[in-house]
Amino acid sequence: MRRPFIAANWKMNKNIGEAKAFVREFLRHYEKSGVETAICAPFLQLQALQEALSGSGVKLGAQNLYHEDKGAFTGEISGPMLKELGVDYCIIGHSERRTLLGEDDELINRKLKAAFRNGILPILCVGESLAEREEGREYVVVSGQLRKDLYEIPAEQAVQITVAYEPLWAIGTGRTATPDQAQDMCAYIRSALAELYDWKTASEMCIQYGGSVKPGNIGEIMDMPDIDGALVGGAGLDPLSLIEIINF
Ligand code: 13P
Repeated sequence: MRRPFIAANWKMNKNIGEAKAFVREFLRHYEKSGVETAICAPFLQLQALQEALSGSGVKLGAQNLYHEDKGAFTGEISGPMLKELGVDYCIIGHSERRTLLGEDDELINRKLKAAFRNGILPILCVGESLAEREEGREYVVVSGQLRKDLYEIPAEQAVQITVAYEPLWAIGTGRTATPDQAQDMCAYIRSALAELYDWKTASEMCIQYGGSVKPGNIGEIMDMPDIDGALVGGAGLDPLSLIEIINF
């Protein structure tokens, strides 16, 4: 059985003081349950969060890593550095990095390999733009991303990847995909994974939906058979709203 997994993506928000205050309030209401929970914070907040979350069962996530482990790569952060801070998960291939920073599928593939090399579990983001959807190309775009991102990643590793389906038109726009639209693409992603690997692997993989998830819509999203969790942006910045989402 796949375990529900809710991850907050703080993006470039919260300083260290705000991160600690969030965790204090969050842990006052958090009860361990069958729902895997992670907070993906900016690099500079990871150490404080690691200490604040210690023993709570809430997992620590980063939002990016470099694909090499060390060397002359000014300004970059490596897998071993994240591992040393106790990072469990790392978001890879978020659409904001794909579009604003020009990350392509080949780089994302290298980053996935770097994460596995360092014992960090990837949350791989895929999703189409509004124009691609309007042109009817959403399935081709998403299956192409999966095929290139997962190139030469064996099934034993793939099964540990969380795939987050984040349609670009639903991110930060308040325009959520309908539960049926999200389910439709997540089911398609699972069938694409089965084609790349096999049905057993695909049926064990966690698929999240992301894009304007909030307390008011998480229930109907989690009711969908191929959606195992959510990657939450804006609504994950408020401790009580994240608690409500986890308790969907
Ligand atoms: P919002 O929940 O703010 O739409 O962001 C979604 C997202 O990009 C999570 O990674």
